[in-house]
Amino acid sequence: MIWSDDRSTSASADLGSGGVDAAEIGVIGLGRMAQALVLPLIEAGLIDRERLRAVVASEASAQRLRQSHQLAVSTDPLQAWQAPVVLLAVKPQQLEAVATALGAVAEGPRPRLLISVLAGVTLARLQRLFPSCRCVRAVPNTPCLVRAGLTGLAWGEGVSAEQQEWVRLLFARVGEVLELPEPQLDAFLALTSSGPAFVALVAEAMADGAVAAGLPRSLAQHLAHRTLAGTAALLQERELHPGQLKDMVTSPAGTTIAGLRHLERAGLRSALIEAVLAAAERSRELA
Ligand SMILES: NC(=O)c1ccc[n+]([C@@H]2O[C@H](COP(=O)([O-])OP(=O)(O)OC[C@H]3O[C@@H](n4cnc5c(N)ncnc54)[C@H](OP(=O)(O)O)[C@@H]3O)[C@@H](O)[C@H]2O)c1
Repeated sequence: MIWSDDRSTSASADLGSGGVDAAEIGVIGLGRMAQALVLPLIEAGLIDRERLRAVVASEASAQRLRQSHQLAVSTDPLQAWQAPVVLLAVKPQQLEAVATALGAVAEGPRPRLLISVLAGVTLARLQRLFPSCRCVRAVPNTPCLVRAGLTGLAWGEGVSAEQQEWVRLLFARVGEVLELPEPQLDAFLALTSSGPAFVALVAEAMADGAVAAGLPRSLAQHLAHRTLAGTAALLQERELHPGQLKDMVTSPAGTTIAGLRHLERAGLRSALIEAVLAAAERSRELA
């Protein structure tokens, strides 16, 4: 259980491996990020499909989600707000509208725990907007969809040890969880949440190169993905420094050094460094 107060009877939330009793969770903004988190948890039986109360902005989205995932999705934020735990996953620009709608509700049950995935929205701001909730700031990434995600967590004031453990377990089901001081979350987001887009660009460009060199498109794409995945696995499993791996595949006057010369001339390293830095700065700006 994550609560020990008077609301606890309505929501047992043991996410342990045995005897899962899936929690009642509200989701405000069941868009791409929330789906990347929630759908694998539903598949794993850790969130009960029947007890998920999801909210989106438009009836068209709600209908699409009801049909595609057989979920109870509405456009009334109160539907989600009455759950003991709420995952907040609207765009940062949509936060004020949500807070205004919920702030107008004077009575009734409220979530004990609010987990926000909004880029750049600080714990202090969440606490100001939702004073009755304990707040957690989470930075998950899209590979959570295939349970290969990364999530950074920072705790707001008053989040109990039990609640922390519950949140850790929740995100651990879709990948690795790291706890960081809140100021580091912008850099974490830049690398791990924006990073998949940067890596996808590299995968696409490498496949383009292979097509230019004569391979069919589908084969080129498959090989590009496998090369990225295999390289990441090798770096991790052998605990290699990237420079070591580069040197392992670079023979004198060979093919790889010919390609590396081009990458250095084009400034690939500098472009990637600046891309991560720009994403971190944008995250700070959003705050
Ligand atoms: N994508 C990532 O990798 C990533 C990583 C970390 C954090 N995040 C954060 O995740 C959040 C969501 O990003 P996303 O890419 O999932 O965006 P998204 O796909 O556009 O999803 C936003 C969702 O919020 C709903 N919404 C908008 N206004 C609402 C309101 N007033 N009440 C209820 N629901 C409302 C939208 O409904 P409609 O469909 O009807 O418009 C949509 O379902 C952002 O704050 C972002 O910073 C994303």
